[in-house]
Amino acid sequence: MGGKASLAVLGIVVALGLFVGISKMAGYDYVACIGMSWGGFRPVAETREHRFLGKVREDTARCRGDDKAVAFRSTPWVDWANYWATADGDSKSGEWLAFTGVLRHFLKDGFGIDGALMDLEYERIELIKFNLFDNDTFKDYVAGRDGVVGPAVKIWPEMRLPRDHPNYADLGVDDDGAQTCTGPLIRYRTLTGICNDLKNPAMGSTGQVFARNVPFEETFPRLGYGELIKNRHGDRIGLLQPDPQTISRKLFTRAQDDPTKCNQGRGLAGNSTDAACDYKKAPFFNVLAAFWIQFMNHDWFSHLNEGRNDLDKEPMNVGCPTPDLGCRPGDRMDRALFADESEPGTFEHNGKTRLLRARKTTQNFVTAWWDASQIYGYDERSRRRVGRDPENPARLSMVRVDGRTSAGDRFGYLPTFQRCRGDSADCYINPEWVGQEAVAFPDNWTIGLSFLHNLFVREHNAFVEAFQSQAAQTPNDDSGLRDPDNASKVIRYQDVSADELFQVARLVVAAEIAKIHTIEWTPQLLYDEPLHAAMNSNWYGLAKGHPLIEKALARVVDKLGKSEVGPKATSWYSVFASGPGIIGTGSAKKGWDLTNPDDVNGGVNHFGSPFNFPEEFITVYRLHALLPDLIEYRDLGGDPNVIAQKVPVVETFRGAATKEMRARGMANWGLSLGRQRLGKLALRNHPRFLQNLEMPIRLKGIGTETLDVAALDILRDRERGVPRFNEFRRQYGLKSLTSFDDFIDARLRRREGSLTDAEKNELADQRTLVKLLRQVYGTHKCNAKIITAAQVDDNGEPIDDCLGQPEGTQVDNIEDLDTVVGWLAETTRPHGFAISETQFQVFILNASRRLFSDRFFTSSFRPEFYSTFGLAWVNDNGPDGKVMETGEPNGHEQEVSPLKRILLRAIPELKGELETVINVFDPWARDRGDYYTLEWAPRPGAEADEAFARD
Ligand code: HEM
Repeated sequence: MGGKASLAVLGIVVALGLFVGISKMAGYDYVACIGMSWGGFRPVAETREHRFLGKVREDTARCRGDDKAVAFRSTPWVDWANYWATADGDSKSGEWLAFTGVLRHFLKDGFGIDGALMDLEYERIELIKFNLFDNDTFKDYVAGRDGVVGPAVKIWPEMRLPRDHPNYADLGVDDDGAQTCTGPLIRYRTLTGICNDLKNPAMGSTGQVFARNVPFEETFPRLGYGELIKNRHGDRIGLLQPDPQTISRKLFTRAQDDPTKCNQGRGLAGNSTDAACDYKKAPFFNVLAAFWIQFMNHDWFSHLNEGRNDLDKEPMNVGCPTPDLGCRPGDRMDRALFADESEPGTFEHNGKTRLLRARKTTQNFVTAWWDASQIYGYDERSRRRVGRDPENPARLSMVRVDGRTSAGDRFGYLPTFQRCRGDSADCYINPEWVGQEAVAFPDNWTIGLSFLHNLFVREHNAFVEAFQSQAAQTPNDDSGLRDPDNASKVIRYQDVSADELFQVARLVVAAEIAKIHTIEWTPQLLYDEPLHAAMNSNWYGLAKGHPLIEKALARVVDKLGKSEVGPKATSWYSVFASGPGIIGTGSAKKGWDLTNPDDVNGGVNHFGSPFNFPEEFITVYRLHALLPDLIEYRDLGGDPNVIAQKVPVVETFRGAATKEMRARGMANWGLSLGRQRLGKLALRNHPRFLQNLEMPIRLKGIGTETLDVAALDILRDRERGVPRFNEFRRQYGLKSLTSFDDFIDARLRRREGSLTDAEKNELADQRTLVKLLRQVYGTHKCNAKIITAAQVDDNGEPIDDCLGQPEGTQVDNIEDLDTVVGWLAETTRPHGFAISETQFQVFILNASRRLFSDRFFTSSFRPEFYSTFGLAWVNDNGPDGKVMETGEPNGHEQEVSPLKRILLRAIPELKGELETVINVFDPWARDRGDYYTLEWAPRPGAEADEAFARD
């Protein structure tokens, strides 16, 4: 060996020695990491039963989280939650090495966080690969079309508009009937959501059929089709079996220390503060966040047509058989609406017979796009409910309210529905909506919806005002807008008409809402570092601040998006899209041209399946447990630390919400909803008032005219054929459970000898709940019949109904568990998760698709549509450039959040209260402390707040 070579070898040995030495000193298990790296990347699964279940090899777990991560590999729950730095400060390694920049990825905490992100990306890739089932186009997805494999098909004849559609004549239609949207149809978000995709005009529009995320054969288990379903459930399940109201009363009812003080959620006379309705609280999420998601749901989906189910069929009996539980034997309810209940038909592929669609399909009565349709409308009737300011039609109607004189009140309040006169907005409503604020989606109106609708209408008008003021200053400047019918003509500020500005404002408001949801609401719902990174990457990309990497990855995404080679390109697309982010995909293409549909539309990716929400998505949004029974009302003009009244939520329902809003004003309601913690999504934590909701108008003459909404959540999922919990998990790529005992948090069980009092109570509560689950759902003697094709057990063997026990054992009927009950029972969750991992899995797929599929968030996220002024408003969270928070919350430089900026514009009187707020959905007086703490402790100045004294 020559001198140079010997030196090199010596150098390597010394470097290795140093690495090992440093690693040992740092307590680092480098062997595990080498083992992990040696194993290479896990291949994306070829078949569904071999997919990634969020469970990693032992050396991987050890490298990313040491003994703690290894210890919980045997549980059904995802492993990444136990990696380094994925929880609060205690989960950090405490390594004395402190690198920044790229090098931090080579430290324990970096391995933990990056490992979690990798696991999440694997989940997303395989969800896209295995979980898309569209009721209209499934055959093409499986068998391909015209030589293109299914997942690469981009245009579907089923997504064309019918000849009798009012906009048919406005389309470009070629000889073989293919349609292309042009001109005014592509300029803005259309009322009914048509032409978001230029080549698939009907996709996502009002009235389209909901999709599924599970094979059609596995839907409607209660109908008992197929061997696997029969083996899984025997004859144990049905529409009313086990009884939904019994489930509601035994498993959902909130325990009360003093039931008289709660009064079934109705509180005490005069909104007395002596009232008390106990509920399990999430310390890091506020009541405003609960109403936010109701506000979002109304934008995304509705099974109900104008607030009604199927009125043509006889209402069904939903009364409970055991009234001693407090439920009502006499309850009756209208039945779910279906779009198609005929026999679905089948097709053959690779020797297998497949259903063409689910046995029954349901319709989405609003647009599936994130287009703020709850504010602006989704069909002609709903549009007529929305008022435009006659004096300035770019604005939405607001009115002055007597006595409301604070700074933000200059923007006014929404007008209200009155009795019908001539052709007024009031003629397009249901009788139960009289007296409440006039909006496009008025059903189940609450004080929170009132707050958020008023807020975003104020924002709409604030944007219009700012744009018009800019136009007054620079009338001859190019606004950036272009008319697709005359693409080369510059549109100056002074040329922008009121109608054009109205539509631009809608685009801006919708994008602000999507941004708030993506980088503010969700990171607080899932309050830990991996999800902070993941959600920000959906919006900005992981490569934020590295423009060269961003550009290179954008090119890869563009190529993959156009690829027709199919599943492989589809798999990698989402990985590369996390680099530059989803927002703006395809919008920065060199030479982007408004007259070229392939540019305007080029950034979307539907992964071979037209976009709509799946039925299963609605299931995981049945979040009624978030609501408290009583709102802790505070007065901004008095002492915000004092709970001045306890206002029952049920007293702020429908028209009562509007009265309350006007009587007390936006600022006081903002303060109250912002400071109070919302309800934990857990068993025995549903609001009492929702179990006893009187609906005298909607249910006139039907049963008791009273509803148990919690029971109805279960019933509706059964009606619409959502698979039960364990199969649901298997189908979504999560490990199934083997008994109700799996719901007990193994992390508590493991430390049983050293638990705090609170933890002891928690464990005891979990054990009680397991007993109750067993009581309600029962057990059966198993006979080793195979129950699923979606997953195999740890030994690679088929899963049978004995779930790992010997044949003949009495096993839990865990297969029968309703999905909502199952995810509410999940006590083992990643840190800071206000939802369960099962719900989250559904979001990973569908929250990404909602952005990937929408050209207004991808290739049409451009000045030609939003205006230069509007695009900057969305990107900077308002006018006048970016505004930064001081300090580095959770270790990140952070912009003042988009919702905080809106609140400061629309309700400036909240300025003092919002001073320390980093995320508007974190309770406003909570000390955010260090690194993702969930502590319920007051920030300086709020020590006297009673909410901190109570528990
Ligand atoms: C005072 C507050 C609320 C009341 C009175 C209420 C009431 C109701 C009622 C009566 C239904 C219709 C059931 C049916 O006929 O199928 C419903 C559905 C639903 N609610 Fe609520 N709700 C409230 C708040 C919320 C909140 C905060 C959420 C949060 C996400 C939520 C999510 C849902 C969902 C996802 C559905 C199913 C919608 C569909 O089938 O398309 N609700 N609610």
